[in-house]
Amino acid sequence: MSRREGGRPVGISPSILSADFGRLAADVEAVVAAGADWIHVDVMDGHFVPNITIGPGVTAAVRRATGVPVDVHLMIEHPERYLEAFREAGADRITVHYEACAHLHRVVERIRELGALPGVAINPATPVEVLRDILSEVDLVLLMTVNPGFGGQRFIPTAPSRLRRLVDLLADARVPDGLEVQVDGGIDAATAPAVVEAGATNLVAGSAIYGSEGGAAEGVRALRRAIEGAGVRKA
Ligand code: DX5
Ligand code: ZN
Repeated sequence: MSRREGGRPVGISPSILSADFGRLAADVEAVVAAGADWIHVDVMDGHFVPNITIGPGVTAAVRRATGVPVDVHLMIEHPERYLEAFREAGADRITVHYEACAHLHRVVERIRELGALPGVAINPATPVEVLRDILSEVDLVLLMTVNPGFGGQRFIPTAPSRLRRLVDLLADARVPDGLEVQVDGGIDAATAPAVVEAGATNLVAGSAIYGSEGGAAEGVRALRRAIEGAGVRKA
């Protein structure tokens, strides 16, 4: 069965990591006006990944700038210490890394208790099969298509085949209706069709949108055009 059965369009989540932080509200408004579905917030701690980026304060500024869901991607160690802070800042979705959680099930439960939708992310070298026993507990799985840490990296070409294995796993497991399959890293008009065909339901894009020659709104529209014609794989 197709992950997109029912005709729900594939979602686009611009990553504000590539936005101009000096005009953050305007950069958020521009992509929302162009049809962005969520705003993706990349949180990095300098430990789990080499870079340091955004915290709850900037997340709250994004929240004030828009009514669309705020999708927080925690690339941090001990994410359990910061769940309340990001929820209070306005996160609607909170995604943690499998590799960063000693007690993933507990973290996922806590995110839901706080009133947000939990997601779990895996790095490119982590087998998709590790997700099997948590699938029924989450609203989103995020397959990294680069090694997390920086915007503007090259898409890892094995990602579509990993996605197909993940979609097979979903077909096999009891998963909640509408479970989102998100991809993140190196997504642009050239790489998006292959991930949509492999079963992605939500695309994160930073540099392709905020670095677009025609501006961020045109970046969203170009990505939308690129995926419109893409077929969706049946599991
Ligand atoms: C990677 C982050 C991504 C990244 C996306 O560590 O999780 O969200 O910023 O940026 P692009 O689209 O530029 O690869
Ligand atoms: Zn991300």
